Amino acid sequence: MRKNIVAGNWKMNNNAEETQQLINNLKIAIEGLNTEARVIIAPTFVNLSLAQNAVNNSIIEVSAQNMHQAKNGAFTGEISGSMLTSIGIKTVILGHSERRTYFGEDDAMLTEKVKAALENDLEIVFCFGELLEDRKSDNHFNVVESQLKNVLFDLTATEWKNIVLAYEPVWAIGTGETASPEQAQEMHAFIRSLIADKYGAELANDVSILYGGSVKPNNAEEIFSKEDVDGGLIGGASLKAEDFTAIIKAI
Ligand code: PGA
Repeated sequence: MRKNIVAGNWKMNNNAEETQQLINNLKIAIEGLNTEARVIIAPTFVNLSLAQNAVNNSIIEVSAQNMHQAKNGAFTGEISGSMLTSIGIKTVILGHSERRTYFGEDDAMLTEKVKAALENDLEIVFCFGELLEDRKSDNHFNVVESQLKNVLFDLTATEWKNIVLAYEPVWAIGTGETASPEQAQEMHAFIRSLIADKYGAELANDVSILYGGSVKPNNAEEIFSKEDVDGGLIGGASLKAEDFTAIIKAI
C-alpha cells in the first residue's frame, strides 16, 4: 500500500545554525503527533550531515535536493550518489523545475541521474510538471506524459519501488497560486493511469504521488483529501516549523 509523504524542499535556504534551529523547532512541534505519514526535509548539501544528526530520535527523514549522475571525477562543485549514501542519506529529489529551468537539466540528463541514484539504492522523489503556457494551450497532459515516459518508463517494476512522484505545475511553484484540488486530482489520476497501462494496476496503486506548488496550511487539507494525492512537496511553507507541522497534520 502506498504511503503518505510530506516532504519539505528547503531549496537554497538556511545556514548551519538556522538548519539546527528549524529542525529543533520542528521536532518540538511534531512531538507526540500521531501520523502515519512519512516526514522528509531536504536541506542544502552542506547541511545534510548536521541535519542527519539533528533529526535523531524523531520521525523526520533527510533527503538531498539533487545529485550528479557520474560516480566521481572531474566535475567541480558536484556531489555524487555514493557521497550521499556514505553519510546515511537514503532519498534524493531529482528533476525539480528549478533544476530544469536554471541548470539545464533535461530528460536525457535526468534519465542518467535516475539510473545513478538507483545504482546507489537511493529513493528518488521525481519532480515534473507543465509550464503555464502548456496548461493554457491545453497541452499539460502531453507534457507530463512525455516527462514521465522519457525518464521513468524504461525502469523495471522492482526499480519503481524506489520512485516517489511529485507533480508540480511550474505555474504554481512559489507563486502563491495552487492547482485546484480538482486539477491536482485530475492530473494525479491521469499519471496513475499511465503507470497502470505500462506496469499494471497493482504497481500504479503502490506509487505515492505528491502534489507540489504553493501548498500552505490553509489549502493542504483540501488538496490532500483527493484520492490520488498522497501528500505534498512543500517549498516556502516548509521553512516555518509551525506551517510545516500544520501541513503534516492536514494529511
Ligand atoms: P512552493 O515550492 O511550495 O514554495 O511553491 C514547492 C516546490 O518547489 O517544491
